[in-house]
Amino acid sequence: MWFPFLLFLGAMVEPIRMFPCKVYQHVAYCSFKSLTEIPDFPNDIIEIDLSVNNITEITEYSFPKLSSLTVLDIGHQQTNFLTVRQNAFINVTNLQVLSLAGNVNLILSPDAFVGLFNVRYLNLLYNNLNESIVEEEYLRDLVSLETLDLYGNRIQRLRPNSCFRKMTNFKILNLKLNQITQICGDDLLHFRGKSLQLLNLDSNYVGNIESTPTFWEECGYPFQNINFEILNLAGNGLDEELMRRFVSSLRGSYIQGLILNHNSVGRSFGFNNSLDPGEETFDGLSQIPIIALDLSNCFIFSLEPYVFKPLHEMRVLQLSFNKINQIQRGAFEGLNNLQVLNLSNNLLGEILPNDFYGLQSITTIDLSNNNIGGIILTAFNKMPFLSELNLRGNSIRKFEIFATIPSLQYFLLGDNKLDSSFQLTDIATDSIFVDLSENRLSNLDVFFKMMADGKKKFILLRHNRLSYCKGSSNIPENNSLIHLDLEDNILELVWQREMCLHIFHKLGKLEKLRLNQNGLRSLPSDIFKGLISLTHLNLSSNFITYLPKGIFPENLKTLDLSINHLLSPSPDAVSFIGELYLGRNNYVCDCSLKEFILWLQNSNSTQDKQELVCSFPENFLNVPLTSLTTEGCEAEDVAFVMKVQLVLFVGTTVLILLMLIGSVIFIRFRGSCFRIYKTAFNRLLGSPGSEGGQRDHQYDAYICFSNEDFSFVEAAFLKQLDSQFSEKNTFRVCFEARDFLPGEDHISNIRNAIWASKKTICVVTKEFLKDGWCIEAFNMAQSRLHDELKDVLIMILVGRIPRYQLKKFSPIRTFVQTRHYLLWPEDLQDMEWFHHRLAGLIFKEKTSKSKENVSEDVSLSAVKSDSAVP
Ligand SMILES: *[C@@H]1O[C@H](CO)[C@@H](O)[C@H](O)[C@H]1NC(C)=O
Ligand SMILES: *[C@@H]1O[C@H](CO)[C@@H](O)[C@H](O)[C@H]1NC(C)=O
Ligand SMILES: *[C@@H]1O[C@H](CO)[C@@H](O)[C@H](O)[C@H]1NC(C)=O
Ligand SMILES: *[C@@H]1O[C@H](CO)[C@@H](O)[C@H](O)[C@H]1NC(C)=O
Ligand SMILES: *[C@@H]1O[C@H](CO)[C@@H](O)[C@H](O)[C@H]1NC(C)=O
Ligand SMILES: *[C@@H]1O[C@H](CO)[C@@H](O)[C@H](O)[C@H]1NC(C)=O
Ligand SMILES: *[C@@H]1O[C@H](CO)[C@@H](O)[C@H](O)[C@H]1NC(C)=O
Ligand SMILES: *[C@@H]1O[C@H](CO)[C@@H](O)[C@H](O)[C@H]1NC(C)=O
Repeated sequence: MWFPFLLFLGAMVEPIRMFPCKVYQHVAYCSFKSLTEIPDFPNDIIEIDLSVNNITEITEYSFPKLSSLTVLDIGHQQTNFLTVRQNAFINVTNLQVLSLAGNVNLILSPDAFVGLFNVRYLNLLYNNLNESIVEEEYLRDLVSLETLDLYGNRIQRLRPNSCFRKMTNFKILNLKLNQITQICGDDLLHFRGKSLQLLNLDSNYVGNIESTPTFWEECGYPFQNINFEILNLAGNGLDEELMRRFVSSLRGSYIQGLILNHNSVGRSFGFNNSLDPGEETFDGLSQIPIIALDLSNCFIFSLEPYVFKPLHEMRVLQLSFNKINQIQRGAFEGLNNLQVLNLSNNLLGEILPNDFYGLQSITTIDLSNNNIGGIILTAFNKMPFLSELNLRGNSIRKFEIFATIPSLQYFLLGDNKLDSSFQLTDIATDSIFVDLSENRLSNLDVFFKMMADGKKKFILLRHNRLSYCKGSSNIPENNSLIHLDLEDNILELVWQREMCLHIFHKLGKLEKLRLNQNGLRSLPSDIFKGLISLTHLNLSSNFITYLPKGIFPENLKTLDLSINHLLSPSPDAVSFIGELYLGRNNYVCDCSLKEFILWLQNSNSTQDKQELVCSFPENFLNVPLTSLTTEGCEAEDVAFVMKVQLVLFVGTTVLILLMLIGSVIFIRFRGSCFRIYKTAFNRLLGSPGSEGGQRDHQYDAYICFSNEDFSFVEAAFLKQLDSQFSEKNTFRVCFEARDFLPGEDHISNIRNAIWASKKTICVVTKEFLKDGWCIEAFNMAQSRLHDELKDVLIMILVGRIPRYQLKKFSPIRTFVQTRHYLLWPEDLQDMEWFHHRLAGLIFKEKTSKSKENVSEDVSLSAVKSDSAVP
């Protein structure tokens, strides 16, 4: 009864085989899958990557028949051992590339590679293999092998098996980082007659051995009859003697490129125990037509006479990164075919006239990154083909002895200490590429001088101090300039002074212009005129705030305006440009940026959209422009403008109306207004008439006037003031015609009236001034004023009386000059106000000690008096 249950359990336990790899276009990606076995691949698979798994063993049953498989990688298994058994690849014999790289304990059956007739590339890098891999018959079936990579193994000898003879296409053997010490005699017998692209013996100990005195004689010439495109013996620790001995063992071979860099040859700087290569060092190479020799990164201090004489076929000599400080006379003797000489990164301090003697075919001299301070240009005489001279990274201030280098095309003087363009432009008159970057040039005229011949195509003036300019030389119309680099100068100072504003006008072929980092605050309006071919303009890292419309040439394709001070640019200036950089500006995110934001959202041309952020206002700080909407902006805008317009309209209208009404009311109804005011005042505080309390005078006022004016005074004053004239009046008034005692002498009458009255009112008219009694009365009243120091005199001026007439009478003059007087109003509606004021003055008990006290009383009448009396 248990049986069916067990069967069921068994079915559960049976592992469900899932295919673990990704397959895409017949390539199976199986790396990093912790696989311990090789999965079942579909038949049509072409490439399999099984690197970095846990496979421990490959047997003839590991792979099914996979006839299309050409590339197989089983590198870097994470297990301690990978065992490759016999016939392991028997079902995948169409393999062309096989990698077992990085399996540090690879155990190979001698029959592991059986059947791999098609493999061209076998990678056995870092497999901890010993020399048996090349000496024995492991590779016997690999007749198609072209490249064998044995980098980083434990190989101590190089004696290739005879099976290499069958590999007719064998080209590259990489033995870098092994332990090969000697290659002698017939070691390379089975390479004889072969043409190898590369035998890489970099970082071994070849030739660098404890040798018996007869070792080198017995060693013979192991490389004879082998053809090397490149033989690499870099980093083998060869000093001068070992190098001399080793290169003589190369006799009989054919080598095009010999790499001897990173060896210990040379006496270096400050040492004496080892030797620089000398006249005999390369003697062994005299029969070998070496074309390129790389001796860079050694310790050569002095280039000895005739050191390269055996290398008469040589075209390229690399001597960079040595300690070369001296070039002995004749050092390059015999190098009649040399074309490229690389002396960069050495310790040369000066170049003397004969230093390069003999280099008649030279085309390129690289002297960059030395300490050259003095250079005598005649050193480059007799070099009819010299087209590139690289003097970058030296300390050249000026050229000592001048010479023209006629065929020079590429003249590189960057990173020196040149501060004057004197003669500079005459050295390389034919050049098309001039690099004067990273110097100390301050005069932009160097550009005009260089352009004078019209031949330059590339001019680099970046990282100088160009800040002034006269623009003296002319730039020819048919010049060839296509690239101008003015990065990191101070052109703002030039254009600010309106100098050389025409600098670009004739550059019709210019395609690329770099003006970044020039302190530019604005762009002069016509500055880019004439740049009809310009496609690339870099204006980044300036202080530009504003882009005038139409400033940029119409063919421009790429424009960099990043890191400027643009606040609210108009898209019109840049919208036609295909590739734009506008990041890191000071965008002001208010509604004035609306047009720009809308354009930005609809165009593809801005490459750094995420770097366009607001810098103002504060609550928008660093908000990307692309995340802003302009919807609110539009509505708000219109509503706001409408509101403001409405408010302004209504406000102005109301104001004007009010002013009109006010004026009309004041002019027309000021009398009525005053009446209303007075009534209201009386209601609140009681009538002023009722407060005539203590009466220590017989009269309230004595009115003094000319008898000629009686009818006027009666109507204007008596009827308004005197209680006998009208019931509503409260004052007791004294006047001559009624109150003077008859028979009494006139003067006494006047004096009595003055002293019996609280105030004296003088109604000054033309008649008053003619009347002597009136003047006398005025005089007397004034003396009382002076005695009592009380405001007892009120003067009322009636009609237009010129001031000079008043001044004829000294008492009146004094009064007019020191005190205020009332003016008889011309307009009837002011009458009520006038009488109120007069009544107030009669009531008023005021001491008049000084002028200042009185002058407080500045009033309408005072103002009027001035205007009425010119
Ligand atoms: C594969 O090897 C790694 C490293 O040795 C180990 O951590 C991992 O557990 C192994 N995976 C399997 C499935 O064996
Ligand atoms: C792979 O080759 C072996 C040996 O020739 C053979 O036994 C095996 O059946 C082959 N496997 C497949 C899936 O064809
Ligand atoms: C070289 O390796 C093979 C296979 O691993 C081994 O049998 C042989 O002893 C090794 N030879 C030397 C000299 O170590
Ligand atoms: C180096 O050797 C030369 C001759 O070979 C000798 O004249 C010179 O004094 C030596 N210099 C030093 C620092 O030993
Ligand atoms: C000279 O050597 C330096 C350093 O190896 C290299 O960068 C430079 O390109 C070389 N110059 C030429 C002209 O080959
Ligand atoms: C420019 O034109 C002048 C006169 O037409 C001619 O002599 C000169 O060779 C031309 N230069 C170039 C670089 O084409
Ligand atoms: C402009 O010049 C700056 C500074 O050298 C550089 O970082 C930037 O990539 C240049 N822009 C373009 C579009 O080449
Ligand atoms: C943006 O680019 C896409 C595809 O790259 C293109 O189809 C579209 O027309 C472009 N839009 C604009 C406004 O250039």
